[in-house]
Amino acid sequence: MLNPEKIRADFPILSRKFKGKRLAYLDNAATTQKPVQVLQAMDEFYRNHNANPHRGAYTLISEATDLYESARRNIAHFIGAKPEEVIFTRNATESLNLVAFVACQEAKPGARILLTQMEHHSNIVPWQLAAKRLRLKIRYAKMRSNGTLCMEDMPKEFEGEPFIFSFTHVSNVLGTINNAAKLIRLARKAGSLVCIDAAQSVPHMPVDVRELGCDFLAFSGHKMLGPAGIGVLYMRKELQETLPPFLGGGDMIKSVSFEESEWNSPPYKYEAGTPNVAGAVGLSAAVDYLKTAGMQKIAAHEQKLADYCRKELSHLPKIRFHGPRNGAGIVSFNIGRIHAHDVGQFADEDGIAIRTGHHCAQPLMKLLGEPATARASFYLYNTQEEADKLAASMKRAAKTLG
Ligand code: ALA
Repeated sequence: MLNPEKIRADFPILSRKFKGKRLAYLDNAATTQKPVQVLQAMDEFYRNHNANPHRGAYTLISEATDLYESARRNIAHFIGAKPEEVIFTRNATESLNLVAFVACQEAKPGARILLTQMEHHSNIVPWQLAAKRLRLKIRYAKMRSNGTLCMEDMPKEFEGEPFIFSFTHVSNVLGTINNAAKLIRLARKAGSLVCIDAAQSVPHMPVDVRELGCDFLAFSGHKMLGPAGIGVLYMRKELQETLPPFLGGGDMIKSVSFEESEWNSPPYKYEAGTPNVAGAVGLSAAVDYLKTAGMQKIAAHEQKLADYCRKELSHLPKIRFHGPRNGAGIVSFNIGRIHAHDVGQFADEDGIAIRTGHHCAQPLMKLLGEPATARASFYLYNTQEEADKLAASMKRAAKTLG
């Protein structure tokens, strides 16, 4: 079992008080707080090792390059990938844009892309951009009213032989954990490429790309105790060789003439311009922190807190939950006719940070029939006491605003 009180001591921000109250940070699906180990690793890089990696022969460059490449190895090992299959990006959004750009490049007009109805905007808009540019078609696999995919309809979705299926592993709004193994089996049978938006799974549960057998997998550093501005795209090795590059510039080339260019070998082919070395170093330190805590333990801890929170909130009259009971550590809800933003402001007065709004998933909100929801999302440093605080605050909000 995790000891969140001990873990909290590593996170300076969690000892801050807001409005005279100790902060209860329950917005981890939006971004997570940083332990001193991550802050120190980044500080050490900038103080003592900063240089532009791969771009010269002096000692400081070797140090920066070693740190950057050892971060890549550590992160690759964490998700069961080969180091060269890990491409550093800015975030999961950029990773998904990269996939949509390169994977669609050779698709014939009319070719199909399959997504689901529970996607974040970052797994919808990049595909819409590509579809418009290349005259491709998008379909959305249906979701049931309980916030899970209609698995019985999935074989039919693949009858149109989409060339790629891109889906969220865990919904940022509903906490739904999609059955990735089953979905990937269906996609393979149809000959589709598979891309996973793992922004809400890699930070919270064990994820292994080899076990999954996907082609692409995207996640962000800032949602897993790392800094903002660093993300990862796993791309299967064979695809890296054949697919075209995304951005052009320094380091992604082997040679350039005035007429044409030859690409560098992967993953550098996909990393144009000076990379975020401190970001990679910080993310690697975050991975070490998560490994020490244990991913299974983190998943169990969050699910327990979400179950408990749901149970405590369920005593409120007129509460509506969105998403299945056996999901990840995310609890999305509305209380009667009170607007989610008012609920969020009420929580803030009590020193509790929860997200309110459409959670960058407007099509999903439309299906739910809610303009906005309130959402508590848990992580390894959250406690049962914080769930109690939220329940008490929501009780007062229902009484005052309802
Ligand atoms: N995608 C992030 C969230 O769900 C920003 O809050």
